[in-house]
Amino acid sequence: MARKMLVIDDDPTVLSSCLRIFEAENFDIVTTTRPEEGLSLVLDTYFDAILCDWMMPGLDGMDVITRLEETSPGSAVVMITGYPSIERATEAMKRGAMDYVAKPFTPDEIIKAVNEAIQRKEAEEIKIIERFGALTKTGQISLPSIDEKILQALSAAIDERRRMEAQPSLEALSEPERLQEMVCAVIDKYNRDKNNLIAILQAVHSYAGYLSYEAIGLIARELNISEHDIFGAASFYAQFKFQKPGKYHMRVCTGTACFVGGGGVMLEAVKSRLNIVPGENTEDMMFDLGRVACLGCCALAPVVTIDDEVYPKMSPAKLSRAIDKIYRTESVKSA
Ligand code: FES
Repeated sequence: MARKMLVIDDDPTVLSSCLRIFEAENFDIVTTTRPEEGLSLVLDTYFDAILCDWMMPGLDGMDVITRLEETSPGSAVVMITGYPSIERATEAMKRGAMDYVAKPFTPDEIIKAVNEAIQRKEAEEIKIIERFGALTKTGQISLPSIDEKILQALSAAIDERRRMEAQPSLEALSEPERLQEMVCAVIDKYNRDKNNLIAILQAVHSYAGYLSYEAIGLIARELNISEHDIFGAASFYAQFKFQKPGKYHMRVCTGTACFVGGGGVMLEAVKSRLNIVPGENTEDMMFDLGRVACLGCCALAPVVTIDDEVYPKMSPAKLSRAIDKIYRTESVKSA
């Protein structure tokens, strides 16, 4: 797939030569003479590389680089300038640029600078993700998990019983029938004891992903307590959801570090892309959205998770790409 590149420069001759040079290198290239337009383009599209001029009317190239670092932290930014100096190069790097190239440049010079910048950016991201992986493995960061083993053991026991009774397996049943079997098995596991209500609710919640009206009704009937009492007990715990979740669970971190790093922007981007607010599902039930206070990996801010996958240093464009990828995968599955 062609890499995407954005060039922001008020000089049309620089734009046309970049177009010529990088199209020949198989880049998909977008150009603009207006820095404001460049900054709004990165909100919708992820660019692997961005070339940005220093002196432009309106916004200063240094400020553009600072904003790009906030809105598109995964892009490899290279500053280009007709007024090179060591101080400016240092300042550009401090603000997030990966390289600094003096104009006029030869095709070889600029191609080399861009390719190396992309490679360094990718290597940086891999390191961050590996470090995050190491932290989760050492238990320094805990991600939400469900007690799969208990549920697997219960399903296996139900299947075994049904096999002995010459009945179809759990898999072959309708969703309401499966729910009934699981709820009864969970209640039996907890000795049909009302004192174990919260543990029972947790197991049923883990199985179904939420506590449906039907599940609460079944538990009420089996334990001989009112639905009202069950709902009252369950609603005391923020972990219980009462509405069916989407297939993918998206969580946007709005803890302090993420918020400062653009978590608020991310939340707005998700809301407008998926057309939902936290606590809701998309109409097609593909995503549900929530916000979390802190995932404990503030160095990766802003952070978004989709199921157990952590997306570090997110930008609206990267997020859009992740959502598109999920939809593509799902449409291939259903084809
Ligand atoms: S504030 Fe988001 S991970 Fe800490």
